[in-house]
Amino acid sequence: MRSVSWPEGYAIEQLEKHHQRKCFKSGVDAVDQWLKKSARQAQEKRLSVTRVLIEEPDTIAGYYTLAMGQVSFDELPLEIVRKLPGTLLPIITLAWLGIDQRYQGSGLGGRILAQALADCHRTGQVMPFVAVLLDCATKEAKRFYQHYDFEGLPGHPMKLMLPWKLLDAMMKR
Ligand SMILES: CC(C)(COP(=O)(O)OP(=O)(O)OC[C@H]1O[C@@H](n2cnc3c(N)ncnc32)[C@H](O)[C@@H]1OP(=O)(O)O)[C@@H](O)C(=O)NCCC(=O)NCCS
Repeated sequence: MRSVSWPEGYAIEQLEKHHQRKCFKSGVDAVDQWLKKSARQAQEKRLSVTRVLIEEPDTIAGYYTLAMGQVSFDELPLEIVRKLPGTLLPIITLAWLGIDQRYQGSGLGGRILAQALADCHRTGQVMPFVAVLLDCATKEAKRFYQHYDFEGLPGHPMKLMLPWKLLDAMMKR
């Protein structure tokens, strides 16, 4: 899973001003609005990074946003924090991810998630974190992430996480 292959004519790029965001429709309004209204500003403020999947020449087929974060020791399952200090712990947040409806169901969602996780893994080589966390926008989204081994967080029904150890093992498969 270390390198993600894309069908011919597709490429991953960091979000820039010239990308046509207005037409993007994933079917979940919050996911679309983030890309249209907030993703670039957050990137300029160095709060998050958004990468878009382009079908050449310039259609956004999908995107994802990653941000650094911290989580309280007692929010993570015991088996992860058992040997860790009882402080705030470093995590990466997979803040947003979506595939345009015209492209859904053809494997791009799985690939873009693999790309986001490969980015997290590469980051983890130089900037350690204990897990990738995400908030599920909908129950459908939750089922999608669970399909890829994301685990529940006790007391947070719409949050999921992937511990570093599992991510590392996935990348070495
Ligand atoms: C969730 C989403 C990214 C899936 O993208 P997609 O391109 O349709 O997914 P894929 O075609 O790559 O499917 C990959 C795998 O995930 C499975 N899958 C897709 N959506 C699923 C769901 N809602 N529940 C369970 N499994 C799902 C597919 O069956 C497929 O499984 P397989 O590899 O074993 O055949 C897309 O539907 C989407 O953008 N939804 C709206 C926005 C959203 O909910 N984003 C996530 C929260 S921020």
